[in-house]
Amino acid sequence: MQGLVLLSVLLCASCHISLSLTNSTASNGTVADGLLENGNFENAPNATNMKGTVVVGRYTIPGWVNEGFVEYIKSGQKQGDMLLVVPEGAYAVRLGNEASIKQKIKVIKGMYYSITFSAARTCAQEERLNVTVAPDSGVLPIQTVYSSSGWDNYAWAFKAIYEVAELIIHNPGVEEDPACGPLIDAVAIKALYPPRPTNKNSVKNGGFEEGPYVFPNTPWGVLIPPNIEDDHSPLPAWIVESLKAVKYIDSAHYFVPQGRRAVELVAGKESAIAQIVRTIVGKMYRLSFAVGDANNSCVGSLVVEAFAGKDTLKVPYESKGKGGFKRAELKFKAVSNRTRIMFLSTFYTMRSDDFSSLCGPVLDDVKLLSIQTSPNP
Ligand SMILES: *[C@@H]1O[C@H](CO)[C@@H](O)[C@H](O)[C@H]1NC(C)=O
Ligand SMILES: *[C@@H]1O[C@H](CO)[C@@H](O)[C@H](O)[C@H]1NC(C)=O
Ligand SMILES: *[C@@H]1O[C@H](CO)[C@@H](O)[C@H](O)[C@H]1NC(C)=O
Ligand SMILES: *[C@@H]1O[C@H](CO)[C@@H](O)[C@H](O)[C@H]1NC(C)=O
Ligand SMILES: *[C@@H]1O[C@H](CO)[C@@H](O)[C@H](O)[C@H]1NC(C)=O
Ligand SMILES: *[C@@H]1O[C@H](CO)[C@@H](O)[C@H](O)[C@H]1NC(C)=O
Repeated sequence: MQGLVLLSVLLCASCHISLSLTNSTASNGTVADGLLENGNFENAPNATNMKGTVVVGRYTIPGWVNEGFVEYIKSGQKQGDMLLVVPEGAYAVRLGNEASIKQKIKVIKGMYYSITFSAARTCAQEERLNVTVAPDSGVLPIQTVYSSSGWDNYAWAFKAIYEVAELIIHNPGVEEDPACGPLIDAVAIKALYPPRPTNKNSVKNGGFEEGPYVFPNTPWGVLIPPNIEDDHSPLPAWIVESLKAVKYIDSAHYFVPQGRRAVELVAGKESAIAQIVRTIVGKMYRLSFAVGDANNSCVGSLVVEAFAGKDTLKVPYESKGKGGFKRAELKFKAVSNRTRIMFLSTFYTMRSDDFSSLCGPVLDDVKLLSIQTSPNP
């Protein structure tokens, strides 16, 4: 046995990639896009460091440091009447009151990164998660469940100000039953390349192609939580306003009007996505965009409301829930050197196949250009 350990140490002496179950290290040692080290918790703690489901000791879960009441949950485990199901692999963790898990990540100083993770609330209603990479911290509400599985993917972003970022996912809850905290699974990272406006489009990231990591094997999209400012958005350049999230979707799992990514406005008027663009006072502009449905049984008369400063346009879209889109445009005269463009869904809609998942119209391919008025001869 000892010989075997020695051999693997020797074999690894010449390689600079650390041994881990996941592909998360670029050749130069910084983190690569994808799962963090043991990001899906499939690499199990040593049984001698477990007391039932409760993790004993701070360095028990490979790759992670835990604090407080943390449980290691196997898919299929029961809690009361509830059967716990895990989206990625067979294991997940549960964070009790004030419990946290953390991991140090080698990043490139100055770059922006997004974190995507799966979470499910259990018994408590007002569950939240506090995600931190110092000095940034965000409290993500997880009480609204958007997918029928009970699990949703959430995104958050930070700017690396050191070469090592310590990610902390913390449950700030104070429930009576510590076993009522949220479940966490599949934590991934992706470097973000904030796009710039071009001479073809004053809207940045108008096709939503740049955004958080999307898990190849979870078909629920990724929620961009509310109260996201554009300088730290997992959806670069976009602001998510109001109370609820918007959903980031990809063409591997949904119908997307253009490119590989789009957003689904899943929370009616409670959620809006916005961007502040530079405009020239007195000039005419054309804001064009695609409105459709994601081929996810979101059936009905959907309406997207577009705003450009004080000008608005309502775009109705009759959805059969089978994928499709139409284009719309709003012409306006800029009254300021900065114009807020914003989109929301007028109605709440539920999927016709499960009646429990929120859905809504898809928005994509947002473009803003000034209308060239030909000079008088
Ligand atoms: C890691 O993943 C990237 C992209 O997914 C891939 O191109 C690369 O070959 C993988 N590296 C290893 C060592 O598996
Ligand atoms: C590491 O590699 C990435 C991707 O190839 C590159 O963007 C980054 O600048 C490199 N970092 C360092 C510190 O060399
Ligand atoms: C598990 O813990 C026991 C006791 O501390 C130790 O002897 C054993 O080597 C550990 N196993 C692994 C795989 O770390
Ligand atoms: C979130 O966590 C950070 C770091 O642990 C802490 O400074 C902050 O106060 C926490 N916020 C809440 C609302 O718990
Ligand atoms: C919608 O999804 C179905 C089933 O997954 C697929 O067969 C069909 O081609 C999709 N439609 C569009 C427009 O993408
Ligand atoms: C834009 O307008 C604001 C106030 O209306 C003004 O303070 C600012 O200087 C203007 N910026 C430019 C670049 O014109």
